[in-house]
Amino acid sequence: NDLYAVVGHPISHSKSPRIHSLFARQTGEPVEYTAIQAPLDDFTGTVHEFFNRGGKGLNVTVPFKEQAWTLADRRTPRAELAGAANTLFRDQEDRLVADNTDGIGLVRDLRDNQGVAIAGARVLVLGAGGAVRGVLGPLLEEQPASLVIANRTPARAEALARLFGRHHSNIPVTACGFEQVTGSFDLVINGTSASLQGDLPPVPAAVVTADTVIYDMMYSLQTTTFNQWALDQGAVRVFDGLGMLVEQAAEAFRVWRGVQPDTPAVVDELRTD
Ligand code: ATR
Repeated sequence: NDLYAVVGHPISHSKSPRIHSLFARQTGEPVEYTAIQAPLDDFTGTVHEFFNRGGKGLNVTVPFKEQAWTLADRRTPRAELAGAANTLFRDQEDRLVADNTDGIGLVRDLRDNQGVAIAGARVLVLGAGGAVRGVLGPLLEEQPASLVIANRTPARAEALARLFGRHHSNIPVTACGFEQVTGSFDLVINGTSASLQGDLPPVPAAVVTADTVIYDMMYSLQTTTFNQWALDQGAVRVFDGLGMLVEQAAEAFRVWRGVQPDTPAVVDELRTD
């Protein structure tokens, strides 16, 4: 079997080994996929050791995505713009290549699995950290009508709005603090890690209407803090990040193996685990 793994710290709760073993079973690809906890001070050594013993590809998760981007000899355009990498492999010249499949994972879950139109939508993105930076490029490629980035630290949102606005000059990309968001939106994406502490980004309730699609990039067994708040404001179409998790994995699998897994079947299986 060809060897793959996810590297992070901590790593024991990662769903990636389960997802990729379901892909392997479904497609018949000879893939063995494990989890590796890298020491916080030696991500580089862990990566080199893995590839030197014949490993074919790595997924990278918290807190190493920026280091993976820096370490690579070559980056795909979408990884270059994301500033972080979640997928590593070696090309035919044995160079380490960094890719980022998080953004396309979000777009595919929204657009293809949930049938949400991003094209023409007024989109609000909450947060301005690595997770948000990773998804802005693919989101903007869908041609929303406008995109507002709101963050606790507004300067970080402004920096992202400037960077991504330059690449999509036909789309108004603006930034502000949470309390300064005005109007309502067709799609609200929570990319903050606030739910981890049970916190809510303090955006005005008026951003949510019964027609607003809500997407929390976080995934947990219970409804996330943010999604519960949105439901309480009258939102009807509310999604968590499990579909995105499976789609980013499927895109990595496709990059490595050239085979596209059937993702809805895997999401169904994970929900009943
Ligand atoms: P990640 O890789 O998850 O994006 P990150 O780069 O540390 O991690 O970014 C975390 C994001 O969640 C940031 O937008 C952060 O806001 P700041 O830029 O102001 O730090 C946001 N965040 C974290 N905890 C939060 C909280 N309790 N309330 C609101 N926003 C929070």
